[in-house]
Amino acid sequence: LTACGSGDGGTSSPAGASDGITMGFAQVGAESGWRTANTKSVQDEAKAAGVDLKFSDGQQKQENQIKAIRSFIQQKVDVIAFSPVVETGWDAVLEEAKAANIPVILTDRAIDSDDDSLYATFLGSDFVEEGRKAGKWLAENAGGPVNVVELQGTTGSAPANDRKKGFAEAIAAKPDIKVVESQTGDFTRSGGKQVMEAFLKSVPKIDVVYAHNDDMGLGAIEAIKAAGKVPGKDIKIITVDAVKDGMTALAAGEINYIVECSPLLGKQLMDLAKKVVAGEQVPKRVVTEETTFTQEQAKAALPTRQY
Ligand code: AHR
Repeated sequence: LTACGSGDGGTSSPAGASDGITMGFAQVGAESGWRTANTKSVQDEAKAAGVDLKFSDGQQKQENQIKAIRSFIQQKVDVIAFSPVVETGWDAVLEEAKAANIPVILTDRAIDSDDDSLYATFLGSDFVEEGRKAGKWLAENAGGPVNVVELQGTTGSAPANDRKKGFAEAIAAKPDIKVVESQTGDFTRSGGKQVMEAFLKSVPKIDVVYAHNDDMGLGAIEAIKAAGKVPGKDIKIITVDAVKDGMTALAAGEINYIVECSPLLGKQLMDLAKKVVAGEQVPKRVVTEETTFTQEQAKAALPTRQY
């Protein structure tokens, strides 16, 4: 594939505009604060890099994402990037992209496929490690027997599968820590609230909520308050993401610990896309750098938090 020139000479355009590549981006949806920040990062950085972005919102449905990818192939974009809503079921459409000579970049989430020639690179977090960090904090801070309820992300998605796995691994040596319930809240605030309301009715003793993202944790906070309990004290809460609303709740003492998952993938994505389209070598896996936040660290970080 060759990049098609924009013909504007590049003098009055943002840096990289003369590269003129076209990217089709199939986003998961707008299910969480993280996703909104991620979409903004991709759109802003495409603009800054002079990449012509064709953006599609999959509304959390795989069939919509597959349709979008097919339409990008028809439009002969230079590169396709997408964040797969679930892990399995992508081989057929990615084979079509491969046959059309359009490189694919997995962004944020991985796919489960035996054929790694179907994508050029995968840019995103290590979700298993995020789950481990959450479990490690609990193992170090539980201070006695605890019952945990888990709010899982979208069923079949890489972050839900991996964050569950990493957490289970990290608490495996602590028989006092028991995950007594685990259900999906689909990464949304309303999902987290609904599932937590049901847990509060059916589980006699809940000490800790482990939510696979901030939004579900924030929904759980609403349910806990409505049940007359104090989030962060009567029931401890651990989440993943560290978006502004989550960090605000952490600083206010309503969440106890957050494992960061960075949505700011746009800049690295544009850099990788340009290289891939130019036929340059790129690493098959690019892992995002991330940290963790206690309540004190959240207070310090909040004033300069970008998202
Ligand atoms: O794939 C990343 C996850 O998807 C984020 O943790 C979650 O908030 C989002 O919906």
